[in-house]
Amino acid sequence: MKVTVVGAGNVGATCADVLAQREIANEIVLLDIKEGFAEGKALDIWQKAPINLYDSRTIGSTNDYSKTANSDVVVITSGLPRKPGMSRDDLIATNAGIVKTVTDNIIKHSPNAILIIVSNPLDVMTYCAYLNAKVDSNKVFGMAGILDTARYRAFLAEELNVSPKDIQAVLMGGHGDTMVPLPRYTTVSGIPVTELIDADKLNEIIERTKFGGGEIVKLLGTSAWYAPGAAAAQMVEAVIRDQKRIFPVCAWLQGEYGMKDIYLGVPVILGKNGIEKIIELQLNDEEKAMLEESSKAVKSVMDVLDNMNVNA
Ligand code: NAI
Ligand code: 2OP
Repeated sequence: MKVTVVGAGNVGATCADVLAQREIANEIVLLDIKEGFAEGKALDIWQKAPINLYDSRTIGSTNDYSKTANSDVVVITSGLPRKPGMSRDDLIATNAGIVKTVTDNIIKHSPNAILIIVSNPLDVMTYCAYLNAKVDSNKVFGMAGILDTARYRAFLAEELNVSPKDIQAVLMGGHGDTMVPLPRYTTVSGIPVTELIDADKLNEIIERTKFGGGEIVKLLGTSAWYAPGAAAAQMVEAVIRDQKRIFPVCAWLQGEYGMKDIYLGVPVILGKNGIEKIIELQLNDEEKAMLEESSKAVKSVMDVLDNMNVNA
């Protein structure tokens, strides 16, 4: 199987490294517009193979899309990251141009590829890729929910002093401050989280999760990459290995949750066809209202993109 990762920066290189290390694909192409950058990162990952014992071949490319030909899955991470004081939405104009160009080139060389978008603002960049790829929506989706739930699960594991492996959670909505964590669906090895933590502490963790991306931007001066890169690689693995895993994924809604023509985070089954099913949870009134609020925030940025005419 062949996977291309576009953007050899922090998130893209981390994703390629996880893919190689875990032998998720036997050929991994890393592509960047910066001269020699992807080649250098790919070579470094390949030179780690004899130490960490994997044989996935990692190849770099400076904007030469012929090297990406016939990829099964493509992860798009190209674009500017957030700097302190910036919201994800501030990135829209620059990143939409980049995502459009990249999508056009990718589809030209890999018309059957499944596209996983990471660039921000995530929900709207996924929409941008979908408009330009002109393929079925089950083949174009975005990574955010795995990262956001991972942050939530990590904070809970720390607070409860238990292994993060034992925390299951789902989170919905846009990748932003309006994301919708669902404590009703959070369990610790099957035990409802509400039996293990008091309501105030849980709310504190939910609030920290909502601003989890910004917390790292403040600390590092740029956005996170280890968890985002690993999250994207986990989605690639679900597709390549046809795992039928259930993850929160940014998906094109066509009536699910009463919403239409919008990309939003919802639980889905991921397998060889990409999104194989969107799972519709029975939300209560409060959860429905939060999801509605989140969808309005995403829709307003989708409208900005529509008015920018960057799409074909
Ligand atoms: P970075 O700046 O380290 O890497 C981005 C790379 O994209 C650079 O190497 C740049 O040369 C490359 N690039 C720019 N234009 C290109 C083009 N036309 N073709 C090919 N490559 C191009 O940034 P980082 O930290 O890797 O973040 C990448 C994107 O992912 C950002 O938009 C960031 O906001 C987003 N992000 C999204 C997350 C999510 O949960 N969805 C989490 C973390 C980051
Ligand atoms: C994150 O959540 C900024 O989207 C990026 O880390």
